[in-house]
Amino acid sequence: MKILVVGSGGREHAIAWKLAQDSAQPQLFCAPGNAGTALVGSNLALSVTDIDGLTDWCKQEQPDLVVIGPEAPLCAGLTDALEAIDIPVFGPNKAAAELEGSKEFAKEIMDAAGVPTAAFASFTDVEEACAYVKERGAPIVIKADGLAAGKGVTVAESIEQAEAAIREALEENVFGEAGARVVIEDFLTGEEASILALIDGEEIVLLASSQDHKRIYEKDEGPNTGGMGAYSPASIVNEAVREKVIKEIYKPTLAELKRRGITYKGVLYAGLMIEHDQPSVVEFNCRFGDPETQAVLARWDGDMLPALQAVAAGTLHEDLVRWKPEPSACVVMVAGGYPGAYEKGHPIGNIEKAGEVIDTVVFQAGTAIKDDYVVTAGGRVLGITSLGEDLEDALSKAYIAVETISYQGAFYRNDIGHRELRRMKNGS
Ligand code: AMP
Ligand code: GLY
Repeated sequence: MKILVVGSGGREHAIAWKLAQDSAQPQLFCAPGNAGTALVGSNLALSVTDIDGLTDWCKQEQPDLVVIGPEAPLCAGLTDALEAIDIPVFGPNKAAAELEGSKEFAKEIMDAAGVPTAAFASFTDVEEACAYVKERGAPIVIKADGLAAGKGVTVAESIEQAEAAIREALEENVFGEAGARVVIEDFLTGEEASILALIDGEEIVLLASSQDHKRIYEKDEGPNTGGMGAYSPASIVNEAVREKVIKEIYKPTLAELKRRGITYKGVLYAGLMIEHDQPSVVEFNCRFGDPETQAVLARWDGDMLPALQAVAAGTLHEDLVRWKPEPSACVVMVAGGYPGAYEKGHPIGNIEKAGEVIDTVVFQAGTAIKDDYVVTAGGRVLGITSLGEDLEDALSKAYIAVETISYQGAFYRNDIGHRELRRMKNGS
């Protein structure tokens, strides 16, 4: 059994780590991987968007499954290229990945399907966009239409800030082609949470809920990042919300895609805003979330491979997905300066020792091997993930491990899980 995981982040280390424990004992490859994936498989020197290189490798090696982590290769059509040579793939094709690749497309689908989401309009003209913002008022949200590595969204507190964001995208081309069109959305209030669902074209199986922490500083201050930590489950996603998520979000979205001749296979991530048990969609991603995946997969009970293969084969069943009752927490350690310019190449000490903390795994993200030593190689460096009897216990283990690790400029948030802890304290 041969499996290729495409990607190089903490999410891909978590996926590869989970697959490595599978009872089928697969031989794992990661393209291009990181120092963490090298511990559980072989890294290949192929970039995630090298569609030809990846396809050639698959033609040669005939893997039993390819699991695609990031959005860029999905939106570039890697699934389509591999399915054309009969390689089983976990991940949506190019047409389905447009749910993440174009925010306008995602909003149009939701609009047509009656999915709860913020009212919106999209523009390529600066003056028309500015007039719309004046009409709607602030706060208002300006989004680059295309893929902008998580940086294309401005939650504008004032009309002036909204106009500046519109000009940045449409006039100054800060996001290149991705910002040639902007989607302008009403501001939603509530609490955010992430839900992921496996979908095999028909069947929908929700995974455990989680909550990300997008801002760089404690108390959710400072600029947005790729994610500074997560925990699972997030109790804000209660049974009533889960039911609505299936009935009001996933089912109508998939039906509308189908009406347009698009079949969704893979994992569909819904970023939710929840208020009074009513979820609205903030964004769709066509992939596993990072760092949500680290927190969620730590709780996956038993083999994961049969579920991923069933998604690819169109034979998904809810019995293939089981959860450990223990909650999990993932604390992300980043490079000094992140999400702005940051340094690379600093040696990381005590990764192994940190992994010896009970119920704890150190998922590596922006790491590389240099002269037999693990060094920093990206903005988000590590995702330390622990299980616990309760969230407090999971967090205390994760932070013990975090404090064991050292590298120059290391930074992390000390308040991961703060909303849930407050909720637990208040008994609600
Ligand atoms: P996105 O990349 O679309 O998830 O947006 C990034 C972040 O901006 C989200 O996680 C939210 O915190 C915030 N955001 C996006 N859209 C809205 C909205 N309509 N209302 C309030 N906040 C939003
Ligand atoms: N954690 C947010 C994302 O994966 O998009």
